[in-house]
Amino acid sequence: MDWTIQLLINLMLSFCGFIATIRAVPKMGHLFIKANLCGIDMSKKESKKIPEAMGIVCGCIYLIVVFIFIPVPFGTYIVFNQEGFPHEKENNTSASGGGCSPYVLAASSGAFVELLAALLSICCMLLLGFADDVLELKWRHKLLLPTVASLPLLMVYFVTYNGTTIIVPKPLRFLVGYSLNLGPLYYVYMGMLAVFCTNAINILAGVNGLEVGQSVVIAASLLAHNVAELGGPLRDTHLFSLYLLLPFIGVSLALLYHNWYPSAAFVGDTYCYFAGMTFAVIGILGHFSKTMLLFFLPQIANFVYSVPQLFHFVPCPRHRLPRYDRKTDRLHMSTSTFRMSSLRWPGRLALRLGHAVGVVHLTESGGMTTCNNLTIINLLLKLAGPLHERRVTQALLAIQVMCSCLAFVIRYPLASLFYDV
Ligand code: UD1
Ligand code: MG
Repeated sequence: MDWTIQLLINLMLSFCGFIATIRAVPKMGHLFIKANLCGIDMSKKESKKIPEAMGIVCGCIYLIVVFIFIPVPFGTYIVFNQEGFPHEKENNTSASGGGCSPYVLAASSGAFVELLAALLSICCMLLLGFADDVLELKWRHKLLLPTVASLPLLMVYFVTYNGTTIIVPKPLRFLVGYSLNLGPLYYVYMGMLAVFCTNAINILAGVNGLEVGQSVVIAASLLAHNVAELGGPLRDTHLFSLYLLLPFIGVSLALLYHNWYPSAAFVGDTYCYFAGMTFAVIGILGHFSKTMLLFFLPQIANFVYSVPQLFHFVPCPRHRLPRYDRKTDRLHMSTSTFRMSSLRWPGRLALRLGHAVGVVHLTESGGMTTCNNLTIINLLLKLAGPLHERRVTQALLAIQVMCSCLAFVIRYPLASLFYDV
């Protein structure tokens, strides 16, 4: 079967996933509230219970869609080749260069194993994310869970591809040469990528529509990158990404519809982990993890800005989401109050430095210091002033889109500054 037909079938199945999710979320909502899986929307006048962890519904539909799709690329080979499934991984990178067999992807059992491992890791992450929503785990567990869930993927990477050599960027070649074999360190990097992708989405949260919205923008950017590369020598790896990405976009758009202001469903940590792991899997198995990280620029900025609170150099409250003003129906930056002298020196230094360059709001009165909670949501509210919740989400998603445009400029026109392209 031609790859364009496979892609079309995947697109149709993704649309079915979209319809299924858009219908299932409101139907399941009251069951979740009955099971006490709900949260209070902290930025609304009335304290209504909203079903939480709806990412599980969306994630399950995603898995069903991809399971149904599996026979499409791989079943073809079995039908046309009576001798059975090939158990040697073929060099499909060279095979796909030009005018190759339309079912090169199916001809590689390596790709089949990789797809199953990808689904296993995503499935594991979904389960562990749901456990987190139900049990309210501690932050140290939040770091451990994605590491555990990425293990099946890393093992399959080891037995199939096991490429641990990186091409060194041009400005650093005088130091370490053209390429560098990172060996086991490369596996540490991939494990950390999974931890970063999952948690980076989870900590840029607390405003209706933001968790899913940012995931949809990242997924759309990856989609554009994959489509742009379909005519190139690595077509099969990009096709592989598309097979995982299109269903993800389908179910996420449906969840966004219900999670958009005013939210009728909360996505929970389940969705953040599911989305992060899907991106990590796509970046690792598609061998474009660096390009993928370029689409995480706002998340990287939010993580760096959050470091003093995440590592407890500055007190970190349970919730850092913006403060809601009932009178004006607007969000203000939320703050934490503490005694500056009780902080260790890295915390004091970070706050003073941030204040000096205008990115940290710091006031002192009666020996107590008040500073804004260190998220880019609060930074936006510090710079732009109080905003309506819908506006905050729109502004942050617009920033995410602009960062993706910048990422494309870095990846394509500017790539020749760093690599031989
Ligand atoms: C992360 C953030 C936390 C933020 C929270 C919001 C860090 C270290 N942790 O914690 O600061 O407050 O996400 O999701 O940065 N909620 C809303 N409106 C929304 C989404 C969520 O009010 O649009 C509230 C609801 O009460 C919901 C709760 O946030 O029940 C979910 O929080 P949870 O995902 O459990 O927080 P964490 O991921 O632990
Ligand atoms: Mg969360």
